[in-house]
Amino acid sequence: MADSSAVKELTRFGSTQRRDAWWIEIIPALVIFSAFIIYATWRAFEGKFYEVGPYLSPFYSPLIDPEHHWWRFSPAILILGGPAGFRVTCYYYRKAYYRAFVMHPPSCAVSEGEHRGYRGEASFPLILQNVHRYFFFIVAVFLCFLWYDAVVAFKFPEGFGIGVGSVIMLVNVLFLTTYSASCHSLRHLVGGKVDCFSCVTLGAPRHSAWRFVTILNEHHMLWAWLSLFSVALTDLYIRLVASGVLKDIRLL
Ligand code: FES
Repeated sequence: MADSSAVKELTRFGSTQRRDAWWIEIIPALVIFSAFIIYATWRAFEGKFYEVGPYLSPFYSPLIDPEHHWWRFSPAILILGGPAGFRVTCYYYRKAYYRAFVMHPPSCAVSEGEHRGYRGEASFPLILQNVHRYFFFIVAVFLCFLWYDAVVAFKFPEGFGIGVGSVIMLVNVLFLTTYSASCHSLRHLVGGKVDCFSCVTLGAPRHSAWRFVTILNEHHMLWAWLSLFSVALTDLYIRLVASGVLKDIRLL
C-alpha cells in the first residue's frame, strides 16, 4: 500500500510518473491557438480588405450586407459564430485547449491538482459542448458557400482563369471539407451508433460511408491543424492582395 506522503505527492499539480516530455505537446497548441484567435478576431472586426477580384475571404463568407444597409459593423461578425462554434466545440480542439489553456488536466496521467477533480463533460457548463453535433449541420451550410466562392475564384472578367488566389481558395475549401468530413459527430451519425449494419435500412451504403469517414477520422487532428492554417493563410493572402501589398499572380 502506498504511503500517504507518496499519494499526496502524486496529487500535486503537474506531478506524474510519466518520464517523457509530456508538456511539449501543449506548447504549440498554446502558441498557435493564441495566434489564430488574435488574428481571426482582428480580421473579423477589421471589416475591410476581405474581397478582391473574384476572391472572397473565408472569414467573410457568406457575405452579408457589405453595403451596410442595416448592419453598421464588419459583416464577418454576423457569421463568425457558426465556424467558431464548430471549432471551439470540436472534440480534438477541446482536448487541446483543456490541456494547453486551463490544464484541466495538463495531459494524460498528469495531475491537475487535488482540488480540481476532473469531472469530464457530464455537468454544466462543459456539458454544453454537446452542441457540437448541431454545429456540424451549420458548418455544412457554410461549406456550400465556400465551395461556391472557390468556383467563383476561377472566374475573371475575361472568363475562366487561374490565379494564385484561386488555387489557395480551392486548397482551403478542400482542407475545410476534409476536416468537417472527419468529424466524430458525422462518424456517429452515418454509422457509429449502429451495432448491426445488416439489420438497418440502407445498411450497406451506411457501412461504406462509415468506413470512409472512419479513415478520415483517424487523422482528425491533422485535418484540424491543416484547415486552421489554410483558413488563416487564405484570409491573409486575400487581405494582402486587397490592400495592395501583394499582387495576385495569374497562372492562366
Ligand atoms: S469532432 Fe472535430 S470537427 Fe467534429
